Amino acid sequence: MTNFETIRVERRDRVAWIHLDRPEALNALNERLMRDVVAAAGELDADDGVGAIVVTGSERAFAAGADIKEMASKSTAEMRADDHFGEWLKFAAVRKPVIAAVSGYALGGGLELALMCDIIVATDSAKFGFPEVGLGVIPGIGGTQRLVRAIGYPKAAEIILTGRRIDAEEAERAGLVSRVVEASRLLDEAQELAAGIAAKPLPALVAAKAAMDAALELPLAEGLALETEHFTALFDTEDQQEGMAAFAEKREPRFRHR
Ligand code: CAA
Repeated sequence: MTNFETIRVERRDRVAWIHLDRPEALNALNERLMRDVVAAAGELDADDGVGAIVVTGSERAFAAGADIKEMASKSTAEMRADDHFGEWLKFAAVRKPVIAAVSGYALGGGLELALMCDIIVATDSAKFGFPEVGLGVIPGIGGTQRLVRAIGYPKAAEIILTGRRIDAEEAERAGLVSRVVEASRLLDEAQELAAGIAAKPLPALVAAKAAMDAALELPLAEGLALETEHFTALFDTEDQQEGMAAFAEKREPRFRHR
């Protein structure tokens, strides 16, 4: 694994952790951090020993947004020319399940990073929001698209147009967060959740994520056809044979993730 400046990468069995580590800027997503996260996620996605990835920040901040100081003086032409946030698409394209373990602030780009993950687990101290309109811009790493798809237009509109922060309980009610845990339990709960997922056959996990992603993009008939294609393709995997044989033989399956 490459050495990184702004993140720490850790392995716990089949779970890989990406710890955002720019405490001086509340993990604001500058270019270096974007490149570090994308490179680490790419390596972990390609590693057969990894079944799930957890992204987390510090107790105080998951991430307080894109780095405002880095972009403040840029012009439209400069933002367009350097495709300022373009690399994040590679993170969103990770094939394996990704969990965001959120404590403290998940604002702007921080919330957008969480929305690129498949599941968000949060502490009761977590604060979510899109302050961008108050800065004279709008969410620019997918927030307008992914929040609307995640929780529906009316609630997303209130969050984006007012810039109001919502707490973990409201985020859970809205369906943004899948579970709220005590601060002291966040890392353990995220590890347990990720380990439970990572123990499942990797080909099935990857196929399930690809099919669910398609639900956000495709008309129903095309999505159903794609689901059938993924479902059918799994019948040539060792893990499908093992999973169904273990069921018939009333024993635990031993998956080889292929
Ligand atoms: N960019 C750059 N630096 C940031 C930052 C950000 N998004 N958020 C925090 N920091 C820096 C602060 O400037 C400060 O640095 P200094 O000590 O050098 O001054 C340090 O992190 C600690 O922050 P605060 O002193 O402000 O901490 P606080 O506890 O008083 O407040 C906060 C915390 C409410 C999160 C506040 O820092 C804040 O409002 N941050 C900005 C949140 C924001 O607007 N995010 C959206 C960014 S735009 C975006 O994300 C666009 C997009 O969609 C792509």
